[in-house]
Amino acid sequence: MEDSQTFSRHEYAQRDFWNNRFNEYKSAFDWYVGWAEMRNMILRNFPAESIANVLMVGCGNSKLSEAMAKNQYLVTNIDISNVVLEQMAEKTKQEYGLMDATRCCFRDGSFDLLVDKGTYDALACETGSEMPFKLVSEMGRVASKGIVIVTHGKPGNRSGAFKEALEQYGEWEEIFEQCELSFQSQFINIVRSSFPGESLAAVVKTPEKLAQCLKEIAAYKDNKEVSGKSLRQTHCWVYIYKRITSN
Ligand SMILES: C[S@@+](CC[C@H](N)C(=O)[O-])C[C@H]1O[C@@H](n2cnc3c(N)ncnc32)[C@H](O)[C@@H]1O
Repeated sequence: MEDSQTFSRHEYAQRDFWNNRFNEYKSAFDWYVGWAEMRNMILRNFPAESIANVLMVGCGNSKLSEAMAKNQYLVTNIDISNVVLEQMAEKTKQEYGLMDATRCCFRDGSFDLLVDKGTYDALACETGSEMPFKLVSEMGRVASKGIVIVTHGKPGNRSGAFKEALEQYGEWEEIFEQCELSFQSQFINIVRSSFPGESLAAVVKTPEKLAQCLKEIAAYKDNKEVSGKSLRQTHCWVYIYKRITSN
């Protein structure tokens, strides 16, 4: 997650932004949540034995695909950043492809399940852009059984847009659940909201700032309350769409 405020949010929709970012930060990072937090929802709705293949959209350097592979899912990954794909291909044994997820070159229904975590939100940072709509409609076109989208957006802001994008590709059952952010994401949110404009590295290297952030996360862990000045988000939303078939 971003640890510098030197860019404006619309850059999240740009390939150069992501290439620069992955050149700078090479360690694995999962936006919002990881397999531990998503596991139950995925296994309950799309058990591995019912899913022949999965397309991970905007994979970044998340560990989600590897975790799913360990749980018997066959995962292919796409991203718009050639930099992260080269890094991931060196680190893992998974399949990677350089592709704009809003214009996939896969045939209709060629993957049972499509998963996006964070790409919709990245594209939605570009005000007035059609890209978020195109992303979800492409997911609907390529998915034969279902879709998972993980976003910070509440149902009031997201559900209508998702359904509108999907309706041209069939009928879907919608399920959504709130999901608590991972510890790592919570910590980064605390740093960002407590010390806006300062880099994560700078905050972590300053003992009194680090202590303040650790105190806040400990308090949150104990009583689930967000304290003081920090107006941070503590949860994301997982949206699941299951294709309704006539037989
Ligand atoms: C917020 S990050 C999420 C990364 C990862 N899914 C995760 O959960 O940690 C967004 C990712 O989407 C990728 N991306 C942005 N626009 C894209 C597009 N049009 N097609 C495919 N990937 C895109 C970026 O390169 C980046 O890896």
